[in-house]
Parts: sequence; C-alpha cells; structure tokens
Amino acid sequence: MKSENIYILGIESSCDDTAAAVLCNDTILSNVVATQKIHEEYGGVVPELASRAHQQNIVPVVNQALKKAGITKDQLHAIAFTQGPGLMGSLLVGTSFAKSLAFGLDIPLISVNHMQAHILAHFINEESQVKPDFPFLAMTISGGHTQIVQVDSYFKMTVIGETIDDAVGEAFDKSGKLLGLGYPAGPEIDRRAKLGNPKAFPFTKPKVDGLNFSFSGFKTAVLYFIQREVKKNPNFITENLNDICASIQYTIIGILIDKLKKASTQTNIKHIAIGGGVSANSGIREALKTGEQKFGWTTYVPKFEYTTDNAAMIAIVGYLKYLENDFADQNIMATSRLKI
Ligand code: KG4
Ligand code: ZN
Repeated sequence: MKSENIYILGIESSCDDTAAAVLCNDTILSNVVATQKIHEEYGGVVPELASRAHQQNIVPVVNQALKKAGITKDQLHAIAFTQGPGLMGSLLVGTSFAKSLAFGLDIPLISVNHMQAHILAHFINEESQVKPDFPFLAMTISGGHTQIVQVDSYFKMTVIGETIDDAVGEAFDKSGKLLGLGYPAGPEIDRRAKLGNPKAFPFTKPKVDGLNFSFSGFKTAVLYFIQREVKKNPNFITENLNDICASIQYTIIGILIDKLKKASTQTNIKHIAIGGGVSANSGIREALKTGEQKFGWTTYVPKFEYTTDNAAMIAIVGYLKYLENDFADQNIMATSRLKI
C-alpha cells in the first residue's frame, strides 16, 4: 500500500527539445517542452546551437513545469534526468542542472536512458492509453533512432534490431529536403502521401540481414531518381509531389513493417508498441491496424506528446526506479552513446 504521493521532476535535454515534467506517482501533472526553432533554418539540428538554447531554456522550462503542476520544488521526492544517448553538449546541460538541483534539495538523483524512456512512456497512467502486457516488442522510430527492442519487464530490455546508418526520421527528412520541403519534412510527406498514389514510383527496399535497418541507400535512391526525372522534365517535382511523397512513405513503412513481422515471428511475441516522432505517421498507424487483423497483433501507440522527445517519459522511468531505490550518485556523467 502506498503511504504517500511521490512527486518526481523529469528533465530531458538529449537533442533539440528542452523539456521538464512533473509526475505524481505514474500520473502526469505537467509536461513542458520548448522546441528549438533555430534548427529549421539549417535543415537539421546544429549541436552547438542546441546546447546554447538548452542553457537559456532550462530554468524557465523547469519553473513552468513546477508551476503548472501546482507544487513547489521542496515537495519533490527525486529528480530524474536523461543521461544519454544524445548530443554531448545538450546532455551536459540537463545533467549538470539535475545534479545541482538534487544536491541543493538533498533528494535522490535518478539517471534515465532516453531509449528506455521512449518505451516506458507507455506506462504513464492516462485514460486514453492501455499499458502493454509483457513481453512486448517496442519499435522506437524518430529523427534520431530506429530500434526494435524486446521488452520482458520494465528494466529487462534487449535490442534485437537497429539501424546501421540513418534513422527512419532522417529518411523522411532528407527525402523531403530533396523535394524542397521544409524541416522536418515527415509531417508534410505524410499529409501529401494521403493525396497521392503510393505505387506511382516503385523504390527498392534495402536488403539488410536479420532485424537491422539501413536507410542511407534509400536516400541515395531517391536522390538519383529525382535527378534523373528532373533532367527529363524540369517540373517533375511540382507536377508529381503527392505521388512522390506517397511512394516514399509507402516504401519506408514497408521496410518497418517487414522487420516487425520478422521480429514477431522470430520471438513469437504479438504485442507491439511504437514510439518516437515517426509513430505519428498515418501510414504506420494504418499498417499496425492491418497487422492486428492479419497477424493477430495487439498494438500500442502512445499519446503524441509522450512519443516525441519529452520529459514525461523521463519522469515515469524516474518513478519506476524510485520504487526500486535505484538512485545515481553525484559522480554520474552524461554519456552520449549510452546503450539500453
Ligand atoms: O521524436 P522526435 O520529435 O525527435 C527526435 O528525432 O528524437 O522525432 C522527429 C522526427 C522527424 O524526423 C520528423 O520528420 C518525424 O519525426 N515525424 C514524422 C511525422 N511526424 C514527425 N515522420 C513521418 N510522418 C509524420 N507524421
Ligand atoms: Zn528520442
């Protein structure tokens, strides 16, 4: 029986979002994200600018999270922060802030692996969200990650497949850049894909062994295809934009689903959860629904604000670790290549 409410502050700063969230047990009280717009001008995240923006954002973002939650910092039981993986300069801002705050308040510090957090976001207590049954497969797909993880319990996770080069979000964003779309291009490709013919332009899928992924060859295939067609017809892109987007999306989703099918057959696990920014894609959502009917899958898609980079997912891991007294000490370091 729980004797008191546990308040955890989560801090996330691994890439280009400065985020803070407050949890009471497994329920979110506040979830604040400052997305850095500065990178849009550059068509991708610029690490040096990201860490500078984190420094500017972190204090106001944490204050806002506490204010929205309606608690003061003295009521906190622990501070959870992203130790890695991510950009070193970005991670350092959140890590040093979390360490000093925990030290100042004399409360436990909890280190969180960002990739585990994407997966454990499914365990946030939310009316619209069903918590997955163990064991399940988690596919984390975003601008920075592409992984399939077998999850046997909260902290027993095994990576069974991952990208050997680009992340799937990069496949969307870099293809979009070739088409003259803004950054990040995923949402715009998704929007246009709904209006186009997915079979208009067939792209070959990369052949990668086992459950791993590769997207760098796909990006080059799109580049050569566009160059070839534009040489024949300078207006090719504008005249065919929806069909090109639909074809790109169809191929990318096909690559993801092929590997998920293989992973499900190999492990005999039919519970499948997704996370990361690309899980917003309408094509992947439809494909998962089809998987439920065709392969007997049970699928889990978290609420959008818990699936892109956020601190609520860091705080839920903080809560689960708090219950196990799994605390970090003040010597802990940010680790840019931290593994699950
Ligand atoms: O999780 P996220 O916000 O940040 C990280 O990269 O960690 O994911 C951003 C990625 C971008 O690559 C963006 O293009 C992609 O998610 N994305 C989408 C969609 N919404 C966001 N990709 C395809 N379809 C979407 N609807
Ligand atoms: Zn992420």
